[in-house]
Amino acid sequence: MIANSFKKNELAKYRLSIAPMMDCTDRHFRVLMRQITKQSLLYTEMIVAQALHYSKNRNKLLDFDEIEHPISIQLGGDNPNLLAEAAQMAEDWGYDEINLNIGCPSPKVKSGNFGACLMGKPLTVANCIERMKKSCNIPITIKHRLGIDNLDSDEYLMQFVDICSIAGADRFIIHARKAWLNGLNPKENRTIPPLEYERVQKLKNNRPKLIIELNGGIKTINDCIKGLEVFDGVMVGRAAYSHPFIWSTIDSKIYGQQQANLSRSKIIEEIIPYAQKHLDNEGRLWQISKHIINLIENIPNAKILRQELSEKSQTQKADISILKKIAQQLKDAGH
Ligand SMILES: Cc1cc2nc3c(=O)[nH]c(=O)nc-3n(C[C@H](O)[C@H](O)[C@H](O)COP(=O)(O)O)c2cc1C
Repeated sequence: MIANSFKKNELAKYRLSIAPMMDCTDRHFRVLMRQITKQSLLYTEMIVAQALHYSKNRNKLLDFDEIEHPISIQLGGDNPNLLAEAAQMAEDWGYDEINLNIGCPSPKVKSGNFGACLMGKPLTVANCIERMKKSCNIPITIKHRLGIDNLDSDEYLMQFVDICSIAGADRFIIHARKAWLNGLNPKENRTIPPLEYERVQKLKNNRPKLIIELNGGIKTINDCIKGLEVFDGVMVGRAAYSHPFIWSTIDSKIYGQQQANLSRSKIIEEIIPYAQKHLDNEGRLWQISKHIINLIENIPNAKILRQELSEKSQTQKADISILKKIAQQLKDAGH
């Protein structure tokens, strides 16, 4: 058994986190979210431990900007040696936490024997967690479902969590629906199995000392406040990606910080130096603008502004003047 070396209040300080999402939560999106909330924990997309091991370009997989802290790297894998190596690399790279993905139901991930199918192999997961804990000194957390296929009773969930807790898992982020590995694709597995918050609550009631974070279907800051009455943390995925601006009062409403008076134009202005650096390093503006576009909604002319940003950012010669202009247009319109 691995002793838990982190204090509970240290582990529970991130009351809100922005979920790992493949093809969404890349470093550019995280920099955007960091303008919106300084306090919340941000997650990378899943990085497969095996890919990290064989990669000739680890910087590309691991690099992040200093302003992204606090940041958790999400790892995928089922090989304790590779995961321990990846955990050590992540700590050396400066990540604040490491999360193991036990929730992804995609067939590709399943064929690699990791992601959600690992809920059927708690001892393998425990072995991975123990090895990761031994190889680094930052928290190891896990993100999982209520269950998979027919392994989805409350007893099974509690047993799974207990085994992982004994192995040293520091926080449990629970996507409050089960996954059907046979029959539903990943997208369907994020909508069709019903959300069952009461089952996560039952787990929290039975294991009050464990740090348990609720995920799935949280759409507003008020949902978060409600969730935090019961759980140690809440994780928001799609609603943060698609509607980033509605989260601009997180730091005041959830973390009790002074209200920052953010506006859409101010957020874009703050990103401009980062975007310029990206362009100077041969990056494309669209890689950043594709996330910024979601900021522009719920205001007059949103559709026109989004279209303009989209079209101009995708041209070969797209430069920083495009972001400057859109920020100015928003500012002139009082946004
Ligand atoms: C496009 C997309 C990609 C995702 N990729 C990951 C992933 O790499 N790792 C993971 O643990 N969950 C992944 N998820 C699941 C989310 O982290 C989250 O658990 C799920 O969307 C439920 O939360 P929400 O209702 O707040 O979106 C992904 C979700 C979406 C929509």
